[in-house]
Amino acid sequence: MRLTEQAHSELDKFVHAGDFAIDATLGNGYDTQFLAQKVGPDGGVYAFDIQKESMEQSTRLLEKQLLVNRVNFTQSCHSKMLEHVPVNMLGKIKAVTFNLGYLPGGDQNIITQPNTTLSALKQAQLCLSDDGVISLIAYRGHDGGKYEFEEIENLIKQKNWPVQKIPGNETPDSPVLFLMDKA
Ligand SMILES: C[S@@+](CC[C@H](N)C(=O)[O-])C[C@H]1O[C@@H](n2cnc3c(N)ncnc32)[C@H](O)[C@@H]1O
Repeated sequence: MRLTEQAHSELDKFVHAGDFAIDATLGNGYDTQFLAQKVGPDGGVYAFDIQKESMEQSTRLLEKQLLVNRVNFTQSCHSKMLEHVPVNMLGKIKAVTFNLGYLPGGDQNIITQPNTTLSALKQAQLCLSDDGVISLIAYRGHDGGKYEFEEIENLIKQKNWPVQKIPGNETPDSPVLFLMDKA
């Protein structure tokens, strides 16, 4: 099973009808689509990406699936998460997903950056409910990816966050899925 599928199968255990979730890296919208299906018509998804292309692609996808009304799209860095997620949602978000790196099919020079990723992760912890989960896929194979992965590991150790780490395969450059509980 691919790591993205593994992430979805974990998220499936946490996110239910009427819940609220965050996609911190909207990209082409597949994770948001999954979350929007899970939360149903009474729930919602806050979705962030810095690229206009991601907003356009994902809106098209979600419109086709008749899920667009469940999604709040924000074209902004995920390190501004707390400026956009309503205060009354803090501590109530069931899942926050990160799928790091670049937009597949887009500009490979626009990638997530360690500083803003770490800031967003700390904010995601504040958003998360006690029975929620943060799912993060980090890629060690592209320029800067390994450093970003190491910085995430350091933050998790430093904060002593409960975490499960699932590598895609045994090679040192394989992507890694982190599953973090509420700290
Ligand atoms: C691997 S893609 C995400 C895939 C997506 N979750 C999906 O299901 O298609 C990574 C995305 O992160 C976005 N990104 C990069 N830096 C970001 C930042 N600081 N804040 C939010 N999104 C960012 C990129 O623009 C790209 O679209």
